[in-house]
Amino acid sequence: MTRILLDCDPGHDDAIALLLALASPEVELLGVTTVAGNQTLEKTTANAIRVLEFVGRDKIPVAAGADRPLVREQVVASNVHGETGLDGPDLPPPQAPPVEQHAVDFLAAKIREHDGAVTLVPTGPLTNVALLLALHPDARPERIVLMGGAIAEGNVTPAAEFNIWCDPEAAARVFGSGIDVTMIGLDVTHKALFTPAHAARLEGRVGGMVTELLRFYGEFHRKVYDFDGSPIHDAVALAHVVRPDLVETKHLNAEIDVESELCRGRTVVDVWRRSGREPNSHVGVEIDADGFLDLLVERLNALG
Ligand code: RIB
Ligand code: CA
Repeated sequence: MTRILLDCDPGHDDAIALLLALASPEVELLGVTTVAGNQTLEKTTANAIRVLEFVGRDKIPVAAGADRPLVREQVVASNVHGETGLDGPDLPPPQAPPVEQHAVDFLAAKIREHDGAVTLVPTGPLTNVALLLALHPDARPERIVLMGGAIAEGNVTPAAEFNIWCDPEAAARVFGSGIDVTMIGLDVTHKALFTPAHAARLEGRVGGMVTELLRFYGEFHRKVYDFDGSPIHDAVALAHVVRPDLVETKHLNAEIDVESELCRGRTVVDVWRRSGREPNSHVGVEIDADGFLDLLVERLNALG
């Protein structure tokens, strides 16, 4: 059993990653922290609580974190996730507030409580994680498995993936932390599209809600990429913790471009080890797409 903390910006794929965590006996979800990203902090926090309440798991603590990047302007992705950040299903508004504690202090407390034996799964901009490293240098998780970056793609710009692009300074601190970091990027998430055929296999109340999420989320991917399905980016990162065999990684050096505008937030991954820079992350290079998608359908259906 792996103890995890999910730092997220729900967001359709964050919500599905959260559901996957709740349905997976291989992991114990200690808590959820939220960050501004796909939508404002207020909305991403409300969405995390709404999803937990929808599946009756409202005892899992949610702590709100950074409402903007370390130094950059805050940008939301309402073109992808809608005005609420979770457009599609008509989920009731959150009944309970987040816990009082700031996400960064909450993360530190949980990591200390378990002597560092925690895997942190960030699926939004890395602002909270960078603040954790800076403000609580003694509270380091033993592993970070993050959704972000790409070897050879970009989604928010031709050069960069949204989570890293939002807060490149935060990402640079995380990749430079010396912690065991795994980067699940677009190179693998774009190879595992959740199609209408997968959605047709979903059952029950949760399956119905996820189908409505994907009906909205799929529109963006149809329009922009002409995809016949949606990449559930954040669920791939979570699935890699649950079933490490699903994504093949290579131990490589990845540096973050914080200087240029054109390539702001690019994860410069040294695939051929040309730079002489030390490897600092396990970068996803291949995915068992069918294995991941079958696991996701099976686990979502298990939530009933
Ligand atoms: O680029 C995809 C990532 O950005 C996902 O985590 C999505 O939820 C958004 O946060
Ligand atoms: Ca996300």
